[in-house]
Amino acid sequence: MEQQAKKTIFSGIQPTGTLTLGNYIGALRNFKLLEDEFNCIYSIVDLHALTVRQNPAELRKACLKVLSLYLAVGLDPEKSLMYFQSHVAEHAELSWVLSCYTYMGELSRMTQFKEKSAKHQDNINAGLFTYPVLMAADILLYQADLVPVGADQKQHLELSRDVAERFNGVYGDVFVVPDPYITKLGGRVMSLAEPTRKMSKSDPEDTYIAMLDEPDLIRRKLKRAVTDSEALVKFDIENKPGVSNLMSILSTLSGRSMDQIEADFEGKGYGVFKEAVADQVIESLSPIQTRYKEIFADKAYLEQVMTSSAERARGIARKTMRKVRKKVGLAALTL
Ligand code: TYM
Repeated sequence: MEQQAKKTIFSGIQPTGTLTLGNYIGALRNFKLLEDEFNCIYSIVDLHALTVRQNPAELRKACLKVLSLYLAVGLDPEKSLMYFQSHVAEHAELSWVLSCYTYMGELSRMTQFKEKSAKHQDNINAGLFTYPVLMAADILLYQADLVPVGADQKQHLELSRDVAERFNGVYGDVFVVPDPYITKLGGRVMSLAEPTRKMSKSDPEDTYIAMLDEPDLIRRKLKRAVTDSEALVKFDIENKPGVSNLMSILSTLSGRSMDQIEADFEGKGYGVFKEAVADQVIESLSPIQTRYKEIFADKAYLEQVMTSSAERARGIARKTMRKVRKKVGLAALTL
């Protein structure tokens, strides 16, 4: 009974490159924090990754890596589903249906599409354009109430809501209209080199901290992080974006308030401050890295988690698709 009263969470991470501290603070960390309160469904969205050319062997490995990281942050496969998007065919099926309820104009306004098509000018494919429809399908398929993401996904979430409301407007209450869950602090972790841009795994390596970076490397990267010439640890995003970014990282990972951090580092200069940020990042990531190594080596366990999760995810997805097919007028086939 209690299980049923819980609300549903859906989120996904693309298996491309390496996951960053931004992915951790903006998404993965919250996945774990929300696990007990909600029914959680976390996907490794491999179909989304195909919008950019991938090396097939690398992509397969990257999917297992993300699954291992899900488990390494402590997600419990008994409580949360963790599966590969391509193992549940209904994602693609619903995406097609929803694309018939999404306007070209809406998709043309998506910032991520504009950015990605500028970056991959030789491969501006239709998948890149309809990417947000697949994302809406991911979420709506599971009737998710809440979607924990970083601030960069807010626009996609708004589109998912618009599409759900439009569909419901025509056919009645088919989909739950999802709310974004974006933390105020940590929703946008910034680049270490250009603190007015978000930290991104597709930028040069010294601009981000990877979740699997060794402690020495984390220390070196943070030492070089861009700050300012004021030598004052103060939270002021507008005028001190570099320092404010490091403060946000320290605050979210340690639970210390901004006031406390400002007081703790008064008159201490950036060298000491950066060391403290590095200590905290290392302390937070080290146990995850240790567990990750063990889990990634255990392919049988990974296989078992992804298979049983996919099976359970399929059950939910099929139920929604049956409803959608009926509503839009596709004839049922009983074999
Ligand atoms: P992706 O794979 O780019 O990123 C995974 C998650 O990490 C968050 N994130 C950040 N948060 C804070 N600061 C940063 N610098 C930072 N960089 C990344 C992202 O916001 C995201 O939450 N389209 C999605 C994947 C997706 C999805 C979904 C998410 C596909 N279907 C359905 C939720 C629900 C993406 O590309 O995330």
